[in-house]
Amino acid sequence: MSQTIDDAQVHRGAPTGEPLLHADNLEAGYLPGVNILQGCSLVLHPGELVGIIGPNGAGKSTLLKALFGLVNIRSGTLTLEGQSITNLRADTLVKRGVGFVPQTNNVFPSLTIEENLQMGVYQTPAKFAERVGVVMDLFPELGKRRRQRAGALSGGERQMVAMARALMPEPSVLLLDEPSAGLSPVRQDEAFLRTRRINKTGVSVIIVEQNARRALQICDRAYVLDQGRNAYSGPGRELMNDPKVIELYLGTLATDVDAARATENEG
Ligand SMILES: Nc1ncnc2c1ncn2[C@@H]1O[C@H](COP(=O)(O)OP(=O)(O)OP(=O)(O)O)[C@@H](O)[C@H]1O
Ligand SMILES: [Mg+2]
Repeated sequence: MSQTIDDAQVHRGAPTGEPLLHADNLEAGYLPGVNILQGCSLVLHPGELVGIIGPNGAGKSTLLKALFGLVNIRSGTLTLEGQSITNLRADTLVKRGVGFVPQTNNVFPSLTIEENLQMGVYQTPAKFAERVGVVMDLFPELGKRRRQRAGALSGGERQMVAMARALMPEPSVLLLDEPSAGLSPVRQDEAFLRTRRINKTGVSVIIVEQNARRALQICDRAYVLDQGRNAYSGPGRELMNDPKVIELYLGTLATDVDAARATENEG
């Protein structure tokens, strides 16, 4: 069922001009000789909100980790504003303006909200005072609870702390791995709206989502990954209405969502 698409189609609908971030033909994996990413490509242009969707195990998280220097890139190139950042370390990438919110374990549970935000700028502590107000404005719920331990927060609140921490160094690119995972439908909606709001402040965003329909609704463009390869790509709304994408990647999900909503309405 996995299929590859030709070069002209890989970045369908992308703006012209130099991309902010450009991953070209990446191969990467965890075990020697086993590639999880088998030639993945992606571009992110300034101001864009780009989604990555695809089945479980497709390599979505691996792609984000490769972009953030956490998985070794074995082949292919990665550039930021035209300069190679292939296999640079995560802390170097943070200095260069890339932020990352992992799928799990993305807060320091024993630290307070405020201390978590301090960790976001540990390389440039003076930036804390400059950024904390801006970031707290995006997450007013956190401002009131600055001295609470992150471990005592709900899943939705922890996700906010993780995003807030990543925004502290004022990144130009934010990589989000499933910000809606494990949240109730209402909290999921909030996470999507918040992502959109962050994007509107000028941060270019790549969002990996299992809630594919919702992701396609808010994204400018999206990439469908399947078995470590680009399978489809294009403007979010077009992919949402593409019969092939619906059949292969959205069908079951839509049923799941409808079933979940129906159960909720009963309760
Ligand atoms: N640390 C690891 N060591 C070895 N294999 C791994 C590791 N992390 C992930 N994998 C494997 O890489 C493949 C892709 O995993 P990845 O987490 O990138 O998928 P995904 O698309 O994010 O899936 P999901 O939707 O479940 O989050 C899977 O086969 C997975 O088992
Ligand atoms: Mg994942």
